[in-house]
Amino acid sequence: MKAVLSYSGGLDTSVILKLMQEKLNAEVVTVTVDVGQKDDFEKIEEKALKLGAVKHYTIDAKEEFAKEYLAKAIKANALYEGAYPLATALARPLIAKKIVEIAKKENADVIAHGCTGKGNDQVRFDLAIKALYPEIRIIAPVREWGLTRDWEMEYAKKNGIPVKEKIYSIDENLWGRSIEGGILEDPSKEPPEEVFKWTLSPDKTSEKPEYVTIEFEEGIPVALNGKEMDLVELIETLNLIAGKHGIGRIDHIEDRVVGIKSREVYEAPAAITIIKAHKDLEKFTLTKWALEFKEIVDSKWSWLVYNGLWFEPLREALDAFIDKVEEKVNGTVKVKLYKGNAIVVGRSSENALYDTKLATYEKFSTFDQKLAIGFIELFGLQSVLAYSVANKSKSLGGFGIEKAKAEKVAS
Ligand code: ARG
Repeated sequence: MKAVLSYSGGLDTSVILKLMQEKLNAEVVTVTVDVGQKDDFEKIEEKALKLGAVKHYTIDAKEEFAKEYLAKAIKANALYEGAYPLATALARPLIAKKIVEIAKKENADVIAHGCTGKGNDQVRFDLAIKALYPEIRIIAPVREWGLTRDWEMEYAKKNGIPVKEKIYSIDENLWGRSIEGGILEDPSKEPPEEVFKWTLSPDKTSEKPEYVTIEFEEGIPVALNGKEMDLVELIETLNLIAGKHGIGRIDHIEDRVVGIKSREVYEAPAAITIIKAHKDLEKFTLTKWALEFKEIVDSKWSWLVYNGLWFEPLREALDAFIDKVEEKVNGTVKVKLYKGNAIVVGRSSENALYDTKLATYEKFSTFDQKLAIGFIELFGLQSVLAYSVANKSKSLGGFGIEKAKAEKVAS
């Protein structure tokens, strides 16, 4: 049997690599997909081969991740339950796609991954693999063989798998870090400083604010502080700048796909800064009707991605809607980074629907105030009518012309 294993180099997937050779007599090809995690990929390859992998692939998917996944997430202001920028969730369908490509190339019988039976990632991997390669068999040994951490540790020691005593379960990519486990499982306790790697604690950040400008084209960031950058570089740079100001720490009580409520801690400095800026620019350039409707679309988009439904046609349909709306989202946003907060302090756009001549209270205003009288009459017609019916109050009688007549009689 030939298997392709999604390999991170961590404990779970290392144990699986050995177990699959031992239990299933499998020839295992390992694949590590680089989505911007700060890992030593050469070491991972070395480890895989040492543990018996017949072949190893390292695939750099950062560009594709930024262009095909993160750009869409930005346009959709993607935040699951209003808080989590979906770093882990967004990477899973892409990793699955890469694994499937290798499985086809290698003519494998099985795809294996290290997900547990309690998390969201199994749903995301399985559904993506099933959509892209329905005939392949999927094995998730941690879930199917009921592996526990303690058992894995024992097994690792016996089988020459190098292990570090690790307290937290961490997943990392360009868009953020997800940290679970250890003391974090007690939701009443503040996350200890040691879990954070990308952000400074706001009490350790500079006393001076720092300003950044982000330029957007059709909803996608294209320049930072006036310098054009591809999205990978822009996100990496902004992670450093905003992280230094303590931005993007998230402590979230989250509803998993499988029904479990869990406590998740995230770091996502660039994601939080970009989404704030992007939302602001949308408010500046889109009509109120488009904004209202897009909020519903955005939250459904995030829901689909969180729940592993990347390849569901509705996601693509929502993206088509979003792309159309985003044609107008061009301009530059100025953000102040200070003590854990990213605060939008300025914006400009050639598509701005904001018009000073309309908004001003000064006398050069072009807004005809008298128009408001009739507008309010019709705008509130039903609500005012319903109120007077419910309260049996004597209105002056009717609306519009009828009311004017009544007022004339009364005077
Ligand atoms: N709760 C997040 C999600 O489902 C993050 C999971 C991250 N995994 C981890 N091993 N820390 O997207």
